[in-house]
Amino acid sequence: MNNENSRGQWGSNFGFLMAAVGSAVGLGNIWGFPYKMGANGGFAFLIVYLAMVTFVGFATMLGELALGRKTGLGVIGTYKVLYKKFAWVGWLGFLSGFLILGFYSVLGGYTLRYALGFLMEIFSKGAGFGGMGSGEFFGSFIINGGANVMFHAIFMGLTIVIVMGGISGGIEKFTKIAMPALLVMLLIVIIRSLTLEGASTGVAFMFAPNFAAFSEIGFMKVLKTAAGQMFFSLSLGMGCMITYGSYLSKSENLEKNALIIPIADTIFALLAGLAVMPAVGAFMSQGVEGISFGAGPGLLFVTLHQVFSVGMGGFIGNLFGFVFYFLVFIAAVTSSISLLEVCTAFFIDRNVSKGVKANRKMITIITGLVVFAVGVPVCLDGLGSGVAGGATIDIPAVMFGMSEVRVAFDCWLDFYDMIAEGVFMPLGAILMSVMIGWILKTDIIKSEVEEGGIKMKAYAFWDICFKFIVPIGILFVLMGQLDDFFGLGIF
Ligand code: PFF
Repeated sequence: MNNENSRGQWGSNFGFLMAAVGSAVGLGNIWGFPYKMGANGGFAFLIVYLAMVTFVGFATMLGELALGRKTGLGVIGTYKVLYKKFAWVGWLGFLSGFLILGFYSVLGGYTLRYALGFLMEIFSKGAGFGGMGSGEFFGSFIINGGANVMFHAIFMGLTIVIVMGGISGGIEKFTKIAMPALLVMLLIVIIRSLTLEGASTGVAFMFAPNFAAFSEIGFMKVLKTAAGQMFFSLSLGMGCMITYGSYLSKSENLEKNALIIPIADTIFALLAGLAVMPAVGAFMSQGVEGISFGAGPGLLFVTLHQVFSVGMGGFIGNLFGFVFYFLVFIAAVTSSISLLEVCTAFFIDRNVSKGVKANRKMITIITGLVVFAVGVPVCLDGLGSGVAGGATIDIPAVMFGMSEVRVAFDCWLDFYDMIAEGVFMPLGAILMSVMIGWILKTDIIKSEVEEGGIKMKAYAFWDICFKFIVPIGILFVLMGQLDDFFGLGIF
């Protein structure tokens, strides 16, 4: 199937699951989940997150997989074929792919830099991080535009090579090895983390019932953060699972797959929490400087660096530091290939529909180069630290008559992320569920699920989700995003 003239297909359901779980499990799980949980009250966040996965995540996953398999096309083609008026929703997904991968690849490059840094430290002290402290090294690395561009290029290069290999010959082949390896590496780090003195502080932070965050931070804020995290983490709302679903055989069980992927992703997020939080808790309670649960985005590159280099220290610290950052790197690659596939699938579909050669290799290289260019500004603005000529994008907020409000970004990553994760993804998901629940009706999902002779088991649940729960749930997310974006202070 996987020749130059066809779109390609997964070799097996297991292969598909590894690719889909690989897409879902990434920086969102290993970085985003622990830091957002840390900054949003631990247990309280976890409960809200689990509710979001159950009532919004499962249904959106099923919807995307079913629509993709039904049309056998990527995100743009799928919307065009199913409901022409929503064709633009497909374009939003396609654009999100470029924006998210643009910054995702830069961050993936960081993880590679850190893995190599710890590896070099094993052989020669000071060789990996120049003898600098965690905060100091990070501060100097992000303003080093040349190094950032180089690691971004390596990361994109690897992503391109895998996607060029095609569905079963590239993506499936890589993820079938990478995902089990990822699990093993994660378990090794968890064992080390859990056996540190004082680790129980971190475990208690995650699992001891405590709802103080609802009054301290506000329920709506926790809900909004958990919901945004859920979409990003499950790769939903931009047609990634539509694209992966389009390569799935009619004989596979969609309802079962739609449950397995979110459950596996959530387990990985919890495992990542168990790798990170007990180590943070241990060294925090031992009084190591600069370590706390609520570190925010600095958790991955500053706090955890401190955990390995100072908390654990020595050979063991370097070894575990290397294993940890290498596993984050692999997790990022299995996600970035799915993002690139969303973009390339459009051009491949176009060629296939014209009856000409699919030309996957050429398309992948060109699309990958465009994504690389999209990421370059992210490499050069020092994450908004104002150095290296960081650009300021000034957007007058003319919507809703608030013409006096101006929103300034001095960080390209935040800008891309705000558009894609903040607006396009929830918008894509809400419109898909309205299209399924109210325009095409949930039966379209049922008939696709039952295509291979498998009976749909939970029709009533899915129907309520598509019609009511998903749209209402996402409405809160979108309102929360606008609130943040314009600083309205509603929530
Ligand atoms: N789910 C990935 C993560 O958690 O890191 C990120 C991602 C991949 C988002 C693919 C969207 C997507 F289409």
